[in-house]
Amino acid sequence: MSKVLEKARKYEIEVSKQIPEGQKPSFHVCAPVGWINDPNGFSLYQGEYHLFYQYDPYHVTQGLMHWGHSKSKDFIKWEQLPCALAPDSSYDGQGCFSGSAVEHDGKHILMYTGVLDKEQEDGSRLLRQTQCIAIGDGVNYEKLDSNPVITSDLLPEGSSREDFRDPKIWIEGEDFYAIIGSRSDNTGGQIVLFKSKDAKNWEYLGIVDESRNEYGKMWECPDFIYIDGKLVLLISPTDMLAEGLEFHNGNNTIYILGDYDLENHKLIRERVTAIDYGLDFYAPQTLETADCRRIMIAWMQSWDNHITPKHFKWSGLMTVPRELCVKNGILYQNPVRELENYYQDKVEYEAVTVNGEKEFIGIQGRQFDMTVEVETGDYKEFAVRLAADDKCYSVLHYNAKENTVTFDRTCSGLSKDIIHKRSMYVKEQGGKIKLRILMDKYSVEVFVNDGEQAMTSLIYTSMEADQIRFLSKGEVKCNIVKYDVVI
Ligand code: FRU
Repeated sequence: MSKVLEKARKYEIEVSKQIPEGQKPSFHVCAPVGWINDPNGFSLYQGEYHLFYQYDPYHVTQGLMHWGHSKSKDFIKWEQLPCALAPDSSYDGQGCFSGSAVEHDGKHILMYTGVLDKEQEDGSRLLRQTQCIAIGDGVNYEKLDSNPVITSDLLPEGSSREDFRDPKIWIEGEDFYAIIGSRSDNTGGQIVLFKSKDAKNWEYLGIVDESRNEYGKMWECPDFIYIDGKLVLLISPTDMLAEGLEFHNGNNTIYILGDYDLENHKLIRERVTAIDYGLDFYAPQTLETADCRRIMIAWMQSWDNHITPKHFKWSGLMTVPRELCVKNGILYQNPVRELENYYQDKVEYEAVTVNGEKEFIGIQGRQFDMTVEVETGDYKEFAVRLAADDKCYSVLHYNAKENTVTFDRTCSGLSKDIIHKRSMYVKEQGGKIKLRILMDKYSVEVFVNDGEQAMTSLIYTSMEADQIRFLSKGEVKCNIVKYDVVI
């Protein structure tokens, strides 16, 4: 084991002991210590779900990237494993960036981006991102002597030699495939496809889809999956401009749904849509379970608004793993069904009326799964205030006239929280709406109309603020079902 990896493994054990008991979320993966971003290597290996992530154990902001590592049998209860990769080689000394994993012949194969960034003798800077392989047993990983296995020399002309990262590897028949994020000098983000017989020697196949200057400058963290007969490309484009309520300025996440032209390796687009409409969602990645469910997880934080409390020794967490399906050309997402095994203390209200402000006995807390179904009513607006006390609250607001849902944490108690509100259009249903809200201390994941749309955001309101209040302008009849989630 290299000294750099050994140091990280020792450090994370020592310093994570200093994190106060109960400070971390209960059922969401978060940084052991220091900083995490993108999920990496989300995969099924020897019957367990492995999740790696971009990780700098030494700082609570992004620094030199390692790969942190956790595993789970059910997506909800996670076990911390030692740091898996460290930037300890000539080709990845400035970072082991994002990537993915597959199981092959009993081995766990990781494919990641190595970053080389150095000043050359003539004073100029050499920045190269290349694709590398490490093979292991679920705890310890060896990098190949022949790394890097793909360099930007294989890219078509006009592609950036510097921005080339985040391989997603998979196996089809006897072959390995990988799609990788890339950037064309003239037209912005693009996704390139490669094929290999042995995961070591790769051949370039083509550009699967590209931004055409419409969807951002660089396409990061791609995933490419068939769901219910449709091809879905997940991407995380940078530097986008806002477009109505669909996209916001900066880094976005998008799914492109369509069909695949196998011969030309091209995605034929049918729909281009935001994956999640919250403030804190980026770089989603998926795996397939043994019972053929497609599960997605994402980094639940934003590059543009660093709101982790200053006194935390850790920063960054992941969303709940979500089951995906495609119905009528729309990508649905809902928390994995395994979550239900941790439900306790059901509280249920049927056909209750809200007119003005109301609280319900037993409806409170910061760690729950609650579904609120507005049935009918002659009303303009309906809202649920979460994590509320005398001063603070975050609000999920439905405007029944404009058909918008807004998450607003303006009053969540953070003076540095500049980007604090986002809205989305939802389908018109004559005032009916179903809001499923999953909270785990600091996170609010909202699934609208049975998972047709999702909205994910963080709040760092003090844990004592645990009231939930319902508000309406006009009379609303609704059903409420709430379970505490207890691990
Ligand atoms: C996306 C990203 C990736 C990169 C990683 C570095 O959030 O910028 O493109 O591999 O983070 O940590």
